[in-house]
Amino acid sequence: MLLSTRDLTKTFPGTRALDAVSFDLKAGEVHALLGENGAGKSTLIKCLTGAYRRDSGDILFEGQPIFPQSTLEAQAIGIGTVYQEVNLLPNLTVAENLTLGHQPRRLGMIRSRAMNAQADEMLSGYGIDIDVRRTLDQYSVAVQQIVAIARAVHLSGRVLILDEPTASLDAREVQMLFDVVRDLRARGLGIIFISHFLDQVFEISDRLTILRNGRHIATCPAAEVDRMQLITLMLGHELQQETATRARPVADGKDAIRFSGVGRRGRIAPFDLTVHKGEVIGMAGLLGSGRTESAEVLFGAAPSDSGTVEDSDGPVDLRNPRAAIAAGFAFAPEDRKTDGIIAELSVRENIILALQARRGWSRPIPQAEQIRMADDYIARLDIRTPDAEKPVGLLSGGNQQKVILARWLATNPRFLILDEPTRGIDVGAHAEILRLIEDVVAQGMSILVISSELDELVAVSHRVIVVRDRQHVSQLTGEDVTTDTIVRAIAAPDLTPEATT
Ligand SMILES: Nc1ncnc2c1ncn2[C@@H]1O[C@H](COP(=O)(O)OP(=O)(O)OP(=O)(O)O)[C@@H](O)[C@H]1O
Ligand SMILES: [Mg+2]
Repeated sequence: MLLSTRDLTKTFPGTRALDAVSFDLKAGEVHALLGENGAGKSTLIKCLTGAYRRDSGDILFEGQPIFPQSTLEAQAIGIGTVYQEVNLLPNLTVAENLTLGHQPRRLGMIRSRAMNAQADEMLSGYGIDIDVRRTLDQYSVAVQQIVAIARAVHLSGRVLILDEPTASLDAREVQMLFDVVRDLRARGLGIIFISHFLDQVFEISDRLTILRNGRHIATCPAAEVDRMQLITLMLGHELQQETATRARPVADGKDAIRFSGVGRRGRIAPFDLTVHKGEVIGMAGLLGSGRTESAEVLFGAAPSDSGTVEDSDGPVDLRNPRAAIAAGFAFAPEDRKTDGIIAELSVRENIILALQARRGWSRPIPQAEQIRMADDYIARLDIRTPDAEKPVGLLSGGNQQKVILARWLATNPRFLILDEPTRGIDVGAHAEILRLIEDVVAQGMSILVISSELDELVAVSHRVIVVRDRQHVSQLTGEDVTTDTIVRAIAAPDLTPEATT
């Protein structure tokens, strides 16, 4: 066995994150680690890489007990990790990132030519053709991931751990990443893969291990379980099937919000959009197509430089997010790390934040009311935390995502924009969030959902807008809202330059 744990246990105040977990990784396999939000996946990884110190149990590398005290020590032993948030420096060149800490030097000076050559060498075999002298931020997240992998493999070379590496990649980029992973597997690396995308798990994995509440539930070859069995193992019960209730009528246009010719030069071409009360509008498109840019215009985060916005009371001021919030708008952004969570504040404080900001800081929400709201959302969204007073930074990734969603729901907006609301969320909570969307919409809230998961868009949307090359290119309604039509509208083969010339 390449890497094993025996009875690994790790507790935090109020939480047994790992409870006597035994796990094996073979050389030359992709081993998926699965479980609900808060099941203990990231904690297991962090114990393996020395980021956390285990309470008890053994970690064996090729049969020998190891005690890594830091990620650097784990790296030296042979265990490399790439997290979802690429842990590299965007403003340095690709070559600098690849060779950081071991640059070729002469008389104390970094020898750039040698460094660039070394970087080229490190990237050969990864199937990407990039200029290592350019800064990392000039490349897509997928390329950045591959650079991070190349660095980790170069430094450690035996075990590669990928914790939700595909969360912000589009379908083509996922394939690019998987090609790299298959290649590394063929070279004999042991690879641990964590993801909530079950299709991807089945596509790439040889074996699966399921954790639930910090306990090892099962390990088996991926070919021996099907999707439903896997979900049942993860949740500990069967997934409640969704009732398809998309035929809900849209209320008449009286209370509608009308955006006419809004847009922003260089980011998104002017577009029209009428948002009806109680309507879910889906937004589909590839990464970088202009979906987030559209949302930012609709929320005043990157205010429109053209057009008008009106409702039945007249013009709506969307000069900036503060004005948008005052107008009853809300926007849950996709990147909780940069745009959302305040790690040191408690779950309760994070949940009431937007509502408090709207009321004004001079009128604090009474403590009892805060507690009631926090407890209510913790129950409704099944946020896994010992209590509402825990700093949010100590929650698992998916549970932090739920806190952000709660924050914006708590403002009870009339128009809520959700950018990738279920990214990093487990299958069980996923279904719960979709149900919650149906509930609030039934009460008259209007929602715009941006999502790369087309099944999810089809399940919740009355209407789907397709964005391509920074333009709203089509709008699908009623029977036309299917994954097929969306995929076709995104690709639009009939409109590619080759076909038109
Ligand atoms: N540093 C910490 N302090 C306190 N509790 C922690 C800490 N790190 C993790 N936990 C708790 O341990 C449990 C397991 O968290 P972990 O991050 O391993 O979950 P996960 O399986 O990776 O979930 P997700 O799918 O949401 O990323 C959670 O209840 C979490 O709140
Ligand atoms: Mg995690």
